[in-house]
Amino acid sequence: MNRADFMVKYEEWLELVNKELDRLVVEKDTPEKDIYKAMRYSLMAGGKRLRPVLSLAVCDVFGGDMSDVIPFACAIEMIHTYSLIHDDLPSMDNDDYRRGRPTNHKVFGEGKAILAGDALLNYAFEIMLDNVLGSSKDSEFSSESYAKVLRKIKAMKIIANASGTSGMIGGQVVDLESEGKNIGADLLHYMHKNKTGALIKAPVLSSAVICGAEKDEYNNLEKYAENLGIAFQIKDDILDVEGSLETMGKNCHSDAAKMKSTFVTIYGLEKSKEMLNLVTGNAIKYIEEFGERGEFLKELALFLVNRNN
Ligand code: IPE
Ligand code: IPE
Ligand code: MG
Ligand code: MG
Ligand code: MG
Repeated sequence: MNRADFMVKYEEWLELVNKELDRLVVEKDTPEKDIYKAMRYSLMAGGKRLRPVLSLAVCDVFGGDMSDVIPFACAIEMIHTYSLIHDDLPSMDNDDYRRGRPTNHKVFGEGKAILAGDALLNYAFEIMLDNVLGSSKDSEFSSESYAKVLRKIKAMKIIANASGTSGMIGGQVVDLESEGKNIGADLLHYMHKNKTGALIKAPVLSSAVICGAEKDEYNNLEKYAENLGIAFQIKDDILDVEGSLETMGKNCHSDAAKMKSTFVTIYGLEKSKEMLNLVTGNAIKYIEEFGERGEFLKELALFLVNRNN
């Protein structure tokens, strides 16, 4: 797959996700109307949609039915967006820009930004449950559909776990505690694997489960996603030093301002770039097991190395 074909596919899936998110989170003219505005403000502000695109790309690997995976893809993007709203709060990274706009708390205030994050997290699970319950309705007497319902519940468990204390939240705790310290390489790895890697692994594995991946396929996808997740955060750390607000849509030099421990502070810029290439190479090794079916995911790993946002 060449870069142009890859970009066309990426855009197609990104649009699909954007349309669905737009449909799912609507404004209401009720007393709590500000919460819908705050949710949509961050959710519909753009973003690369990497996680839902991963869900759809894995579904494509298995020739699965996209309509089974889309609610889970959107749910993960909502959870990711909630994590960004909270990550930017004054009590966390204290950042002023996100996705090319002032951060949620700058516009809606801290209280509502916290609630908008909470609301996106709750809504993510409601959307997945709606889909699971919807699938069970037409499957009451069909053992084939019953198996699908079970696979979707398993996918939800993967997503819940990745979002929680042994995933994203756990990583964020380590991140906060690492401020002003020189943490060792092991803890840095642990932090990245959890704060970012977990929510990159979740779309890959939840989609693989829904689409009925075999054990060896699942294992290879897991290794691919683990490496991709680490690579993604190494690049994020590099961009914090080398990027710009214009291209990134968020403040750079934010890590230094908060004296964060990052790949750059622990290994330096050059070594971080080497590691980025190495880890990306590992991801590619595992996806090559899928031959042509893995072409998009392979191209994606390469694309992310040179991203500038
Ligand atoms: C930013 O994620 C936070 C990290 C986990 C590094 P993204 O770089 O995917 O942000 P968006 O979704 O494109 O805004
Ligand atoms: C964030 O890591 C990871 C999350 C769970 C949101 P960063 O704090 O480095 O992400 P950015 O750079 O603000 O997007
Ligand atoms: Mg952070
Ligand atoms: Mg941050
Ligand atoms: Mg960062």
